[in-house]
Amino acid sequence: MNTIALVGAQWGDEGKGKVIDILASSADYVVRATGGSNAGHTVVSGDKTYKLHLIPSGILYPKTVNIIGNGVVLDPKVVLEEMDSLSKMGVKFDNLMMDLRAHIVLPYHKEIDELAELSKGKDAIGTTKRGIGPCYADKCDRIGIRLIDLLDSEVFAQKLKSNLELKNKLITAVYGGKPLDYKSIYEEYCGYAKRLKQYATDTGAVLYDAIKAGKRVVFEGAQGTLLDLDSGTYPFVTSSHPITGGFCAGAGVGPTAIKECLGIAKSYTTRVGAGPFPTELNDEVGNHLLNVGHEFGTTTGRARRCGWLDAVILRLAVRINGLTALAINKLDTLTGLKKLKIATSYKLDNKNIQYFPADISILAKCTPVYEEYEGWTEDISACRKFEDLPKAAQNYIKAIEKLTDTPVTMIGVGADRNQNIYR
Ligand code: GDP
Ligand code: IMO
Ligand code: MG
Repeated sequence: MNTIALVGAQWGDEGKGKVIDILASSADYVVRATGGSNAGHTVVSGDKTYKLHLIPSGILYPKTVNIIGNGVVLDPKVVLEEMDSLSKMGVKFDNLMMDLRAHIVLPYHKEIDELAELSKGKDAIGTTKRGIGPCYADKCDRIGIRLIDLLDSEVFAQKLKSNLELKNKLITAVYGGKPLDYKSIYEEYCGYAKRLKQYATDTGAVLYDAIKAGKRVVFEGAQGTLLDLDSGTYPFVTSSHPITGGFCAGAGVGPTAIKECLGIAKSYTTRVGAGPFPTELNDEVGNHLLNVGHEFGTTTGRARRCGWLDAVILRLAVRINGLTALAINKLDTLTGLKKLKIATSYKLDNKNIQYFPADISILAKCTPVYEEYEGWTEDISACRKFEDLPKAAQNYIKAIEKLTDTPVTMIGVGADRNQNIYR
């Protein structure tokens, strides 16, 4: 079997897009299985930068089949806009497939996401307002509209009508918003259906045959482990399972279909949106990470919160995802910092805590226990071998391996697809 899952090991934005693009160059299939247009994956190739939200990051390779799996919540408007803008950059979509079972994000999902956030006030989650939570909620409530429904205008009409009746009550009576118009949504989405029809298929069956035939399949994670609905910092999480277990359900394959699990992390930690973040830095070092690392959201443009690397989080990611290796991106961003720190455990009421607490109110009271490392000042962006790195940078990577008991097989030293060290 020739399959690998790439999963975010922190709070998202770990540089998954870059690594997936690299692996996609030799892949037959790239599969998105979870999340939706809340994802923003960046691929940099020479002077071109591609920002992908719903289209899998293997799309730049014409021979690679790109699959949007059943577990993705598909926003037809966003995906078609994304395709239009990518096609202006020369990208083709002959090898794109979308699963018939994928749930459709509709205007009322986005409206409710926005209104629900507003009504929460200071307790808002800080969602991307892409309608992700409300769409997954409808899926669980068994009233969702799937791609297969959208493609049948009569079924779509009937489901949209009954859902909109319910959602308009929620929008107006609960949130005090304005009702949405059935006819305009129906017509707009029937237009999208016409364009999407050619890509719609049973992608789980396609994948099953591909894996049996020994094809190289890359599962593309979106979000990250700490945003997982069960294992993350609930309720400050996304509404799906962006972990390797979630990829199986979301791609329509069994757990034995995934051979290797590569966790992607940054050499420090970032988070967008609200919720506890033990190693967060609101000081000069935090500003260094924000500015040198250009830590602004790919989807929303929000400044990301920045802090030291947290080995407690990485150990959780190793455990939940069954990681076989780690890729550490953005080592170059640490250049110039005199001393580096990694949280090795937490302290709570003078007790040492090795594991990530289940309760965020406890997590919020935890203070990180740090180990300190020497920094370096040399420009490492042109390094292509581990031995080329300054000794201090080598030691920092070795420390991550020791603290997580997991080999670091890839190191990112720049945003370009060529700026990597392989081990
Ligand atoms: P994703 O959501 O995990 O795909 O990550 P994003 O694309 O949202 O954010 C990662 C950012 O870091 C993007 O701007 C990437 O181009 C950039 N990036 C990825 N790897 C590296 C690296 O090794 N060094 C630097 N400097 N930038 C990187
Ligand atoms: P990629 O794939 C970083 C965060 C949001 C918010 C929480 C819930 O680019 O790594 P949602 O809109 O999903 O209901 O928001 O999850 N979030 C992400 N943070 N990277 C992402 O995706 C994210 N997708 C969602 O900021 O805190
Ligand atoms: Mg991102």
